[in-house]
Amino acid sequence: MTYSEFIRKTSNELTNIYCESEANSISKMLAQDLFKADNTSLIIQNSIILDPDIKEKYWNYISLLKRGVPVQYVLGYSFFYGYRFNIENGVLIPRQETEELVDWIIKDHKKEESLSILEVGTGSGIIAIILAMELLKPKIMGIDISEKAIEVTNSNIQKFKLKNISVEKQDLFDFKSNIMFDIIVSNPPYVREFEKRLMESLVLEHEPHQALFVNDDNPLVYYEAILKLAQINLCSGGVGYFEINESLGNELESMITNLGFKMDALRRDINNKPRMIRFYK
Ligand SMILES: C[S@@+](CC[C@H](N)C(=O)[O-])C[C@H]1O[C@@H](n2cnc3c(N)ncnc32)[C@H](O)[C@@H]1O
Repeated sequence: MTYSEFIRKTSNELTNIYCESEANSISKMLAQDLFKADNTSLIIQNSIILDPDIKEKYWNYISLLKRGVPVQYVLGYSFFYGYRFNIENGVLIPRQETEELVDWIIKDHKKEESLSILEVGTGSGIIAIILAMELLKPKIMGIDISEKAIEVTNSNIQKFKLKNISVEKQDLFDFKSNIMFDIIVSNPPYVREFEKRLMESLVLEHEPHQALFVNDDNPLVYYEAILKLAQINLCSGGVGYFEINESLGNELESMITNLGFKMDALRRDINNKPRMIRFYK
């Protein structure tokens, strides 16, 4: 069959769950995975062959996708900042706005050497690992309360053969370290319970709620704990970065100031939503 026939057939299998454009892009991801080639190489091939092994894998993927499992969990990986990360059920799937946060940090600090950096709530390790690879000899520590997050982050650290990063199982509400950090970064849980009704069932049913949700009556609880931790473990003059809920920027700005930090910038993402904050100690 031709590549375009494969894409059409696969998209048709998925249109009960996904809209046409999503079904199409997932079909391309499956093709690139199954035939180990990029989109351009597949387009210029005369035909693609589904041998028995590939066929079995293909129908296995389709059956998981039809049950609503996100494609990143089906394939076991996701791309972030141009790198391929191992992803498993139980850790948050990387989001585009987080790439923008990471990019901001890299642009701010790309000339500084040996920075000491803490990432709170590391998930699959995407933020900590990109910083470990893109900055000049930083020393990075990641913490997460989830055993699965630690396991997946460690698998990614090994995959990229990094020596300058470590990850620990720690509860951010009870953080203990005698290290002073130059930078603290976090994308903590910030989706309020009542916002669940605005979310896709794919996210609600498959992604870890511990990574996403906070009580409606205290939505900044994680930020408050991280700021208190920063009062102790962020160097004087050190800088903090948060990814935030677009509706909570003003409240968070006040909290940052009230806890003794200098609020610096509230930045909008590519969709013009206020999604990132930088502050100084
Ligand atoms: C929104 S996810 C961010 C994951 C990853 N950094 C990313 O940007 O994709 C929040 C992370 O915080 C972790 N987390 C939740 N409660 C925590 C706690 N009390 N202490 C430490 N980490 C926690 C979750 O397990 C999850 O991995």
